[in-house]
Amino acid sequence: MALIPNSAVFAFTRHSMARCRHTGSRIKSLLIQSNTASQDCRTNHQMMMSTETTKTQYTIDDSVCLPTEPKTLQKIVSKHIQTVNHYLSCKPLAQHTLQAFEETQAFIGNDNKSIILDSGCGTGKSTIQLGKQFPDAIILGIDKSLHRLQRNSPFGSSSEDTVTCPVPNMPNILFIRAELADFWQLCLKNKNVFKIDRHYLLYPNPYPKKARLKHRWYAHPSFPLLVQLGGHLILRSNWETYLNEFQTSLQLCHDNDTTSTTTVNINNIGKHYLNQHNQQLNGNVQQLYYDESFVPMTNFEAKYVACGEPIYELVIRDNTMLDSI
Ligand SMILES: C[S@@+](CC[C@H](N)C(=O)[O-])C[C@H]1O[C@@H](n2cnc3c(N)ncnc32)[C@H](O)[C@@H]1O
Repeated sequence: MALIPNSAVFAFTRHSMARCRHTGSRIKSLLIQSNTASQDCRTNHQMMMSTETTKTQYTIDDSVCLPTEPKTLQKIVSKHIQTVNHYLSCKPLAQHTLQAFEETQAFIGNDNKSIILDSGCGTGKSTIQLGKQFPDAIILGIDKSLHRLQRNSPFGSSSEDTVTCPVPNMPNILFIRAELADFWQLCLKNKNVFKIDRHYLLYPNPYPKKARLKHRWYAHPSFPLLVQLGGHLILRSNWETYLNEFQTSLQLCHDNDTTSTTTVNINNIGKHYLNQHNQQLNGNVQQLYYDESFVPMTNFEAKYVACGEPIYELVIRDNTMLDSI
């Protein structure tokens, strides 16, 4: 068990308290102040405390998988940016995702409502929660696994041909069976209709093996698409390194900017996530400290909370959005 030094200062932040409301639960989100933490993160509620980091059977730390070498990550991200259009031209779109996208367009219609993506929604617990929390937005819960979608969501016992499923009494939610990279690509091509306000990636498969690095979203060829989609990004994981590396990859997207503009405009990629003053990313990884009143957003989160596994959140603000997060 690693003890965080007593001298570590923890502070409730305006930012994190806002997100207590945003998650719809009374989670105590505390920011470990680092040397880089900005002054405006500080509030009157500052307090001194120490805490323990527990280790459970689910913990992914350096003994399970070492962080990626910065040079390796840099090489992968810049390659994916340079080759994104080649990737798009070579990869045929999955037929069921095309159909799912058409049905999604019909569901959205001409409403011009803001859209919230819950990518990799699993059984859909978070999608339902988001639907209640944001009644004026359209929530799209997307997962490739029919099996997972059937477990909780209204997908129920739908046949293998079913690719979308609305929710009775919750007209702002649609569950979608689709391949995420293809679905993101289609959203991007229709960006005028698909105004993504928030994009949740909750407990994405972390693939904590060096050999599986390219399966993680931030090291995947579709990462530039995810970045270009925009919207406030909200990620949660029990693997802090996953979130740190996601943030690094996003920063690298900007640092590897190119002037090429073809299918996907990869000029100024990720600019909307940067702080205009110092061209650094507006985001940081925080540990979420929960108490008994905390309502888990997903099944994985519930499993981790039940055994005291530390969970982390990365929120990256899209500066082009009017609403705060
Ligand atoms: C670890 S689970 C997390 C599920 C849920 N968010 C939760 O926290 O309980 C990751 C989910 O992402 C989905 N997924 C992974 N890769 C995907 C892809 N390429 N397209 C669509 N869904 C994908 C999986 O089917 C799985 O349900």
